[in-house]
Amino acid sequence: MRQAVAIANSNVALAKYWGKRNESLNLPYTGSISITLAGLSTRARVRFGIERNHDRIVLNGEQAVNSPAYVIRQFLDHVRQAAGEKAAAELEIRSNFPVAAGLASSASTFAALALATTSALGLSLSPRELSALARRGSGSAARSIFGGYAEWLAGEADDGSDSYAVQLAAPEHWRLGVVVAITDLARKPVGSREGMAHALKKSPFFPAWLESHEADLAAVRQGILDRDLAVTGQAAERNCLKMHAASMAASPPLLYWKPATLAVMHRVLQLREEGTAAYFTIDAGPQVKIICPWPQRDTVAAAIREVPGVRSVLLSEPGGAAELVECA
Ligand code: PMV
Repeated sequence: MRQAVAIANSNVALAKYWGKRNESLNLPYTGSISITLAGLSTRARVRFGIERNHDRIVLNGEQAVNSPAYVIRQFLDHVRQAAGEKAAAELEIRSNFPVAAGLASSASTFAALALATTSALGLSLSPRELSALARRGSGSAARSIFGGYAEWLAGEADDGSDSYAVQLAAPEHWRLGVVVAITDLARKPVGSREGMAHALKKSPFFPAWLESHEADLAAVRQGILDRDLAVTGQAAERNCLKMHAASMAASPPLLYWKPATLAVMHRVLQLREEGTAAYFTIDAGPQVKIICPWPQRDTVAAAIREVPGVRSVLLSEPGGAAELVECA
């Protein structure tokens, strides 16, 4: 029996991935940039060579079924093929934060799985190769291989060989506070996979989303390199609103926000008027992530906790790279 355990952090995109040029390889139309989130992590234990014909996948204590099970099996098949392996696998995957509610559990899950599965099978991959592999499970996972600030390069090749993430800056480069407002714990009705495919096909605003993305990406990147929160924050807010506007304009509409999502956005704008540098972003769900200077995280968190409809508030900051914790 060969087994390995790996842990990876989730991430929040400041310049987002929303739309695939190739669905089966998870190749994006655009580049994207994220912060890897300390403390919001997924642990994956993988065992190969067990006495059974089928993979067994336990996700947060329950046997995985339907779409999550299918996507993970496909990923396993891809890794097995790369390693020339035939054996079935047993997987135990556990995230320490609300899953499938817009907190990017797929990012940390597939980053942890990429590292655990390849280590268990004796493949030694570079961070770039691991990132390209994690991408096959879930696009955003390409970025969670790295700590701090990561940029996923969209690439141009049809086979995806130039579509992987790189580290833009280490966590120590810029200690931002990341305040996560949980406004709803229900499983999101439309996952990112279906959501982005729908917006691509059915939104008249999708071309505008793509056309204006490059400028946001450049501003988010430059702001990170210069540690300029106004530059990064404004570009991140703009980019988030455009992604959601394009999705809302689809037919039928795709609306991820809840009333409390909007209430938090207004509170963040008000905080700025009161002199606190805080900026929001929202992925494919109702939760709001707010970036602010590290010393102001408690002030921001306290203000957000008071917003009606906010269920809880999590505190994070730029965290570390995916890590192998056991390999035997
Ligand atoms: O990696 P996926 O397929 O779960 O898509 C992630 C999409 C967003 O979270 C909305 C944006 C992003 O870049 O992470």
